[in-house]
Amino acid sequence: MKNVELKSLITACQLEELSAEDQRLIEKAIEATGRSYAPYSHFRVGAALLLNNGVEVVGCNQENAAFPACLCAERSAIFAAGAQYPDVPVRALAIAARKPDGELQDEPVSPCGTCRQVIIETETRFGQPVRILLYGRKCVYVIDGIKQLMPLSFTEF
Ligand code: THU
Repeated sequence: MKNVELKSLITACQLEELSAEDQRLIEKAIEATGRSYAPYSHFRVGAALLLNNGVEVVGCNQENAAFPACLCAERSAIFAAGAQYPDVPVRALAIAARKPDGELQDEPVSPCGTCRQVIIETETRFGQPVRILLYGRKCVYVIDGIKQLMPLSFTEF
């Protein structure tokens, strides 16, 4: 018997340290928080994707009185991109969120398990890692692919 240690690598930085392309995508995610429909949680999440063809696709969380029908910002963006550009790989994904008081989160917001699974599928589908930018006012996490956030993931059967 032996223990297997799984390690993840992420980079923590300030917004200003990122490239103009990354900063722009984060701005798009922040903008998208303003279009969130979150009357139940009041937690407004925005997501922005950059596709390989340069197109940006945004999403935001969509809540429902029937809670299981709610959809996260990340999946709203990924499914919108899949519907409009089914053959174009996703290069990057930025996520931002506003707390119920309307302020942007201080700490980076991290995708839920179901969204991580959908991001895994996106990487597998296009054979390309998705660069992930998790925005927080205090710092931004940069992750070079979802596998850093979801080791031992289920991708095929
Ligand atoms: N939410 C997202 O949109 N993305 C995440 O990564 C975490 C959670 C949404 C779902 C729900 O509308 C609200 O935030 C509170 O969980």
